[in-house]
Amino acid sequence: MPDDWQHALEVAERAALEAGALIMEGFRLSARVSRKGRFDLVTEFDLASERLIRERIEAAFPEHRIVGEEGEATGEGEMVWYIDPIDGTVNFAHGHPYFGISIGLYREAEGLVGVVHAPALGNTWKAAKGAGAFRDGHRCVVSERSTLDEALCTTGFPGNVANTRDTNEAELALFLRHARGVRRCGSAALDLALVGDGTFDVYWERALKPWDICAGALIVSEAGGTLSSYDGSPADPRSGALVATNGVLHESVLKLIREARRKIPG
Ligand code: IPD
Ligand code: CA
Ligand code: CA
Repeated sequence: MPDDWQHALEVAERAALEAGALIMEGFRLSARVSRKGRFDLVTEFDLASERLIRERIEAAFPEHRIVGEEGEATGEGEMVWYIDPIDGTVNFAHGHPYFGISIGLYREAEGLVGVVHAPALGNTWKAAKGAGAFRDGHRCVVSERSTLDEALCTTGFPGNVANTRDTNEAELALFLRHARGVRRCGSAALDLALVGDGTFDVYWERALKPWDICAGALIVSEAGGTLSSYDGSPADPRSGALVATNGVLHESVLKLIREARRKIPG
């Protein structure tokens, strides 16, 4: 691994762990919560976590651009850090432990470094390009399950679900009938990390932001999984729609998504 990426990975992991400790100070306590949209929340801990992570990255890489969910983008250039200071804010605000900090470094569509840290679960996933994926320091790989009958799938719904016809209900209905199980856990970053370590076999979702999925997507690809957009074209985690699988199941999953999407009212 080039030294730069090793260093970037260390900076990202340290920042994620520090931010994790910070947000745990507010977990299951009365964090101040505001609404960004009808269902979309932000807490004082999202803001504090993003501030901390930005400071750590800016100090180590002042020449890089930083794009975070809760603040203005800063810096210029082709090296871009995507930060989600709490992915799964609704869970965090309700005291549900499935949330994480997601930090990814990309050059255009190329993932270089990704860290997903879930402080309430006590797990950290990380990956750097060409160096594999790790959960809590141990190498992880995607599952080998080869049929949908055996597959545990995970997905999420668009933030504007109340105002769109493209709600993911058609896809969900079909997967419920074809797969062993389907979950909606509430953090895209963790969903992807758990595809990377073989817990989940399949993930699909659209209307995502780059900070939701950049880190997790690199973890999946470094763990040997397959990523694409819904139509099977190469994945660009900055583009909004993503299918991530253990590879073996990818074609069957794309076929099911295609079939489901034919039923979406026009
Ligand atoms: C959300 C979570 C959720 C996904 C949404 C995201 P947030 O991020 O990742 O799983 O379904 O699309 O917006 O708002 O908790 O950072
Ligand atoms: Ca998010
Ligand atoms: Ca967030």
